[in-house]
Order: sequence, then C-alpha cells, then structure tokens
Amino acid sequence: MAALDTRAVHAGRDDLAELGVHVPPIDLSTTNPLPSVPDGGDAYQTLATGNPLPPGGNAVYQRLWNPTVARFETALAQLEETTDAVAFASGMAALTASLLAATRDGKRHLVAVRPLYGGTDHVLATGLLGTDVTWARPDQVASAVRPDTALVIVETPANPTLDLVDLTALATACGDVPLLVDNTVATPVLQRPARHGAALVLHSATKSIGGHGDVLAGVVACDRDWAVRLRQVRALTGAILHPLGAYLLHRGLQTLPLRVRAQQAGAEKLAAWLAGHPAVARVHHPSHHDPAGLVGRQMRGTGSLLAIEVRGGAPAAGAVAAACELITHAVSLGGVDTLIQHPASLTHRPVTGDARPAAGLLRISVGLEDPDDLRADLARALDSIRPSRTTSVSPVGLEPTLSEV
Ligand SMILES: Cc1ncc(COP(=O)(O)O)c(C=O)c1O
Repeated sequence: MAALDTRAVHAGRDDLAELGVHVPPIDLSTTNPLPSVPDGGDAYQTLATGNPLPPGGNAVYQRLWNPTVARFETALAQLEETTDAVAFASGMAALTASLLAATRDGKRHLVAVRPLYGGTDHVLATGLLGTDVTWARPDQVASAVRPDTALVIVETPANPTLDLVDLTALATACGDVPLLVDNTVATPVLQRPARHGAALVLHSATKSIGGHGDVLAGVVACDRDWAVRLRQVRALTGAILHPLGAYLLHRGLQTLPLRVRAQQAGAEKLAAWLAGHPAVARVHHPSHHDPAGLVGRQMRGTGSLLAIEVRGGAPAAGAVAAACELITHAVSLGGVDTLIQHPASLTHRPVTGDARPAAGLLRISVGLEDPDDLRADLARALDSIRPSRTTSVSPVGLEPTLSEV
C-alpha cells in the first residue's frame, strides 16, 4: 500500500487516464436513462437495498447512487484503511444513518463516552431517534454494555476539550458490540480508528476534509456489510451528499495531509504560548495533556484544534471572542482560517449538567495563517479582559517570535 500522502493525491482516480481526463468528472444527473424495464427494475432493487453499483450498472436515481460521490467514498476509504465508505449530506446525517443502521433486531441501547460534539450529545440525550443512552467513562464501558446494546460511541480527540481515549482498550471493552469513532478532529492523517477495532469511523467532512468552509458533508468509513446497511438507510431517508460537494471533498483530500500538519504546527506553537499567558487558566491540547501516551502510539500528532479556559468565566470568554480581529468568531473547525467560539453558548449549548463545557472555555481551530499573527491577535484579545494593563504582554514585535518558543 502506498504511503498516506500518496494515497491522498491519487485515491479514487485510477480510471481517469482511461477516461482521457486529468481531474474527476462531475455527474450531476438526478436520473438516468434506463435500458429496459427489467434492467432498470433490477438496478433499482440492487441499489435501494444498499448494494453497490455493479460495473457498467445503471445508477437509476441520484438518491440511490452517484458516481462522483462514489469516487470520494473510494478515496476516503483508502485513507481510513477500510474497504468502504458512505457519504452523507452532513456529519449529523452520517450519525443519524449510523444510529438507524445499528439499532436493529430490537437493540436500541447505546453507550456513549462524553465529551462529544454538542449535536451528537443532543441527539443521544433526547432519544430523538428512539435510542436509549447510557453515558460512561471509557473504564465504565465494559460494565455499561448490555445484551440490547447496539453501538458504543466515542470521539477522540473530543470536541471541545481534546480529551483522548485509548481506542484499542475501548474496542476490547466493547466486546461484540460495534464501536463508532468520530474521527473528525484527528482526520485519517493523524489517526485511523479501524486499525484499533472501530467498526464505524465517522467524519463531519464539513471540517478538515473539506478544509475551506464551503462544503457541508459527512462520511462513514466501514466494511462492506456496514456500507450496505448505511447505503440502504441513505437511499430511503434521502441523506446522500450532493455531487458538487463530493467533488470538492475529493479535491480537498489531496492537500489534507499538508494542511493538517501545517495547522498542527501552528496549534502547538500557540498552545505553548497560551499556557504561559496570565489570562489563561488552562490549555486543552494533546501537546499538553496526554496521560495515556496516545500521541505517537494511536495518533501521529496532536492536531489543529485547541481550547483555552480564560480567567473570568463566560463574560471574559465572550469578550475575548468578540475582540479577535484576524481570527473569526464563528463555529466549525478544521478549515484553512482560524476560528474561535464559546462552546457552552454555541456548539455545546444543549449539553447538560457536568458534561457542559466550562463557562470560560473557548475553542480555537487553528488555520494556516502565520502563528505570530495569530498570537498577536490573541494577545490583544486576552489583554482586553485583564483587570490591569500594567502587567500586560509587551508589544508583539518586542517579544520573541513563536518560532523561538
Ligand atoms: C466532532 C463532530 N462530529 C460531528 C459534527 C456534525 O457535523 P455536521 O455539522 O457536518 O453535521 C461536528 C460538527 O461540528 C463535529 O464537530
């Protein structure tokens, strides 16, 4: 198997030379001319039950199959080292399909490890999809699993606190129950959960995979059996990704390794600097907190997402977010530009009780800007919440640059 960087550039493109093109064609057809009623009917039956399109087969209708989407899925599966992947119109659509595909045969119980993205937490906590959740720490999963448990769900690194979970140990604790790992924050560049026993590897492809803030999408990497179940749910519920989005995601994969590593380098520098800032009570980033030594063992790096807890709680956090000028005050993560947001008010607003992010916590998704410029912006914003300016940080130009930190 070629190296990840090579796969990122070439995966899903094997037939392009034969087609006489250099970039993948985009197929926007919502319907396809049928060769005959019997052939069309057979093709419909194959696809509506979640089976893949046979070579030369008729795609019938875009909700059932789309070649541009399938190309992206082939490429993503190669990066995650799974046989298959199924792409959806959003990360939440991917999660919904995973829950519907998993909760069969009377099994409706889920075990979930917090923290999770707020939308995921909300779907599980409300039981909107007819599921019943038990929240568990990783070391409680083995005892939380029941005969009617359909799925165990975890996110590592977790959004927004960047907590890390040992996936091999967790998969062992799951026993026969399938494990879903949300790999959005790590990306396949840094972590491939299927290697550690995950049955389903979920991404909000809206984030690093797209990378430019212009595609809403989700994808699940898995084996053939799960793909059939997921595609059936997708066909019946109408959650397929749009082919234009699939084209952009497939293109985005080509630069994913470079973007992830460059953004991670910036995040590590900022985390080191933020840890020494008097307005910051705590920094959350795998470069600062990895008690089980998972970086280097399970993850190939620390990633581009970090969080800080500022002194002064929610009002101070809000003031910092509002004071940023270069950094955009906005939800989402993993893109080429740096974003800051207050999870307790926004992405994790529905999360209740102890699982709610700290009031002073700000999540920062580090982009590709020069880290010195990001630090200058954060220094100014953090300075705005400090009670006295007499001890404020020196003008950025007089300080050692981040490359010297
Ligand atoms: C870790 C994680 N999983 C899933 C989702 C949901 O994805 P989407 O917004 O694409 O529906 C998000 C969104 O922020 C996320 O951060």
